[in-house]
Amino acid sequence: MDFSENDSVDAVLASFADTPDPRLREVMDGLVRHLHGFLRDVRPSLHEWEQAIDFLTAIGQRSDEHRQEFILFSDVMGASMLVETMEATRQAGGASGATGERVDATASTVLGPFHVVTSPERALGDTIDSVGTGEPCLIEGSVRAPDGTTVPGARIDVWQADEQGSYDVESEGRQPIGNGRGLFTADDDGRFWFRSIVPAHYPIPTDGPVGALLRATKRHPYRPAHVHFIVEAPGYVPVTTHVFVEGSPYLDSDAVFAVKQSLVRDFAAVDDADAAARHGLPNPFRRAHFDIVLAPEAS
Ligand code: BEZ
Ligand code: FE
Repeated sequence: MDFSENDSVDAVLASFADTPDPRLREVMDGLVRHLHGFLRDVRPSLHEWEQAIDFLTAIGQRSDEHRQEFILFSDVMGASMLVETMEATRQAGGASGATGERVDATASTVLGPFHVVTSPERALGDTIDSVGTGEPCLIEGSVRAPDGTTVPGARIDVWQADEQGSYDVESEGRQPIGNGRGLFTADDDGRFWFRSIVPAHYPIPTDGPVGALLRATKRHPYRPAHVHFIVEAPGYVPVTTHVFVEGSPYLDSDAVFAVKQSLVRDFAAVDDADAAARHGLPNPFRRAHFDIVLAPEAS
């Protein structure tokens, strides 16, 4: 049979017919059908197809141990958030809220491309900021199960941009690697607290092929201010999430579609000299409360 537009899907599917792993076969089947359907819809010229290949090649070439352009591409296409949301629904056994998140656990959101440095282990109450140019804040909360049981000893990995909206790995010496990052262990009551600075909103990296795509499509590159969290504890489903700073610009137009209202918190201004002294902060300071609820693993 000659290869033709009408028979292209059947010809390629037949070539994968002996795939032993049923899941791989299902994935390849879907990929072939959707890819060929997309190409028949869009009807690229050969030149346009070469441009598409060049774009994907440039994404790979722009990725290394400090830069993950493929994750960025997935993020701006909404693919990361769609997979995150479907995963949360899957882990909840299909029971989910209106936006797809688990109804009883802290909502998840994108990992993003900046979890590329191992966070330094820090003690509760430590600061994750060694530069000292931002507005000091205290972030505190507790890790609990949906029934309110405390989860002692949870591991809390946090990372954030600074007051200029840059991560350590983007700052070319202005911040040491590890600044804005910390790995904490919750206390026996599941509580955690650490000092930091209020992060700023920032543009995702625009000096690569994803930035070129945003410019060509007149999309802005900004993310609202946030702190990333990965929280895990034995026997519980880990959560990858953010706490967003209430009032930040771009909460309603995040370039990577990652805002969930349940994750927005007031970083309230506090004028309390005793509390400031207790936490080793200047007075006044800002304070945010972010409790984490972890779902128990299915037994
Ligand atoms: C971030 O929040 O670090 C991030 C997420 C997606 C794309 C770029 C940055
Ligand atoms: Fe971020």
